[in-house]
Amino acid sequence: MTTQSSQNTEVLGRRQQQLTFPAGFVWGAATAAYQIEGAVRADGRGRSIWDTFSHTPGRVLGGDTGDVAVDHYRRYATDVSLMAQLGLTAYRFSIAWPRVQPAGHGAVKRRGLDFYQRLVDELLAAGIEPWPTLYHWDLPQQAEDLGGWPNRDTAYRFADYAAAVHAALGDRVRHWTTINEPWCAAFAGYASGEHAPGRREPVAALQAVHHLLLAHGLAAAEIRDERADSQVGIAVNLYPVTQASAADADLDAARRIDGLQNRLFLDPLLLGRYPEDVLDDVRGHTDFGFVLDADLAIIGAKPDQLGVNYYSRHTVSGQAGDPQLVKSSPTVAASPWVGSEHVRFVEAGRPVTSMGWEIEAPGLSEVLHRLRDDYPAVPLYVTENGAAFDDELDGDGVVHDPDRVAYLDAHLRACHQVIEDGVPLRGYFAWSLLDNFEWAWGYSKRFGLVYVDYGSQQRILKDSALWYAGVIRRGGLA
Ligand code: FCB
Repeated sequence: MTTQSSQNTEVLGRRQQQLTFPAGFVWGAATAAYQIEGAVRADGRGRSIWDTFSHTPGRVLGGDTGDVAVDHYRRYATDVSLMAQLGLTAYRFSIAWPRVQPAGHGAVKRRGLDFYQRLVDELLAAGIEPWPTLYHWDLPQQAEDLGGWPNRDTAYRFADYAAAVHAALGDRVRHWTTINEPWCAAFAGYASGEHAPGRREPVAALQAVHHLLLAHGLAAAEIRDERADSQVGIAVNLYPVTQASAADADLDAARRIDGLQNRLFLDPLLLGRYPEDVLDDVRGHTDFGFVLDADLAIIGAKPDQLGVNYYSRHTVSGQAGDPQLVKSSPTVAASPWVGSEHVRFVEAGRPVTSMGWEIEAPGLSEVLHRLRDDYPAVPLYVTENGAAFDDELDGDGVVHDPDRVAYLDAHLRACHQVIEDGVPLRGYFAWSLLDNFEWAWGYSKRFGLVYVDYGSQQRILKDSALWYAGVIRRGGLA
């Protein structure tokens, strides 16, 4: 017979086993405009570099485009009700600049902005906090025609656009992200050309880095000027970098990649300076003369929050090695100051997702610890984390995705641990709410918690969505 007190001990035991997150921890999921909205010609939307790129033969796998995507522009209310079903407390989405300013400057298109008004109102009515990102890679094509991110003017145009959006939504939106992953926008867009606009001009990529960061700083200042209580930050994609061995060449390779991938962004944003060693690495190609006197003070104004997008770890070597173990890295190959002669990406032998990205939850703890140890304290949010697997809808209309559940569970455990260690981590956004257009991979990679049948646009909660809903309900991991 079980007594009351033994029952109590059992309940207590179970509670102690649960990893509970602090009250107020933000439980979210993320998406981006071009990946989900579709409706590319609705309500006067202008063309973006991703429209041009995806319609250029050979750029996106299978010729896929975001023309229809998952039709979120029309189905947003259904999607918000899915979020409510999951119990999300926040939703990170991006605003399409070409819907708000079709040409990238000038008068605001009311009908385009109205979509985001409706979305924000729908979210608030469902008790979900809207977390907009102002730029997730869909630059208006006309801004690219004027030079794109390598052109300094783009940063000022972006700040005007940010101010216009904030003027419309600032009364209902508290948390703002300016730019998503400046590394990708700059290096995949302008060095390797794997992403829009598909240029292969490594020095232009460095100019793009600086102007994206400047755009962040200028926009953040506009937003704060208008409302002191708006919380503004940027989302950077960080990778822990491990040297394949203790050899000098490997240590140097790790330094170069860490410099280019992490410190080139974190140092100006949080310390107000570019890393000297990276400036030295690129010296033969550019003297960074495009950095003007006041820029670093603008970029380095302390953010109210920092978004960390985390997917994997890099292991690198500076020595010729077994070609079987070397992964290709188009961005590195396209950056002559890093170059394949200095750096090789090595397969470390961990299990991978269907993107081929190594699964490495301890790497998330490592980047979050590093932020605590090497930079001034800023509230941190994991603004993206997730995995693509080859999900299949089975005959019973369900999607079993145990690998994704395991991935999310392991990374949330890492989040819980770093909070215990005193890292100011305040929230987590799974990438992604929905299966969607995965850039150069088109619809071939599924990252969603929610499966989308692209033919019928039907949404089906995967097992991982049900699992995540349970985590949110319990406030932690069982
Ligand atoms: C990130 C992007 C996001 C998505 C994930 C898988 O780099 O920000 O849009 O594509 O990767």
